[in-house]
Amino acid sequence: MQEPKLAVPSRRLETPAGEVLIFSNAEQASAIAAARVAAIIRLLTSTNGKAVVGLPTGGTPVEFYKGLVAKHRAGELSFRDVTTYNLDEYYPISPCDPQSYRSYMHRHLFANLDIAPNHAHVLDGSVPEPFVAEHCRMYEHWIEADGGLDLQVLGIGRNGHIGFNEPSDVSSDEARATRTRLVSLHPVTRADAALDFGGEERNVPPHALTMGIGTILAARSIVVLAFGSNKAQALAGALSGSVSATLPASLLQTVGGRVTWFVDESAAADLK
Ligand code: PGA
Repeated sequence: MQEPKLAVPSRRLETPAGEVLIFSNAEQASAIAAARVAAIIRLLTSTNGKAVVGLPTGGTPVEFYKGLVAKHRAGELSFRDVTTYNLDEYYPISPCDPQSYRSYMHRHLFANLDIAPNHAHVLDGSVPEPFVAEHCRMYEHWIEADGGLDLQVLGIGRNGHIGFNEPSDVSSDEARATRTRLVSLHPVTRADAALDFGGEERNVPPHALTMGIGTILAARSIVVLAFGSNKAQALAGALSGSVSATLPASLLQTVGGRVTWFVDESAAADLK
């Protein structure tokens, strides 16, 4: 299949954490990441009959999702044979809450293309507490039954988290073994999320359900989006700092051959 004609990144780096494509702004990086992901989905669905894709939320992927929806509306991309698994969800939260990631995904993607409702999976923030561990195990089981993630799209947090895998002082081997589970949110994450919850950090749910670092790293291909100067420090550490669970994104260095980063010049400011 012919890859769409793509604009050229202003810089390209090879790093221990993978290939880094640097664009002059986030809009351009998002459009090109969307074109790349659309091409991967077309290739997978035409050769395997299906694609299994992990998806992120937050401010970063909004333009990326617009790009996917535009391609769908132009008749260039179908999600008929795509199954998606979102990275994470707040806990507790109702799926109907406008702040839930289920609502976010419905608004930005699922309602705007042809994905089947039972192929678009988001962890459920309304599962009763005694059943959370079982729900997380089932999520892993569904991914496995679908043949594993072909592609995981990721953002990174200002504190270097991936999904809601927050900085931690466990060993990197322990971090790499983590799977979908209930976690507590880091103060930086709750501060960054406050704007979405009426500007009040105390309104941000204290916990979240998240794919583990092990779940993410098992994906056969990984695309990471990072935009803006507030990501510069985490990005530089993730790409070439030491591999440590204190900066979860640095664990991507253990699978660098499968990772492509789409970043803007502001996020790349601290890269050599
Ligand atoms: P953001 O979050 O896109 O809202 O900056 C990214 C992340 O925390 O993964």
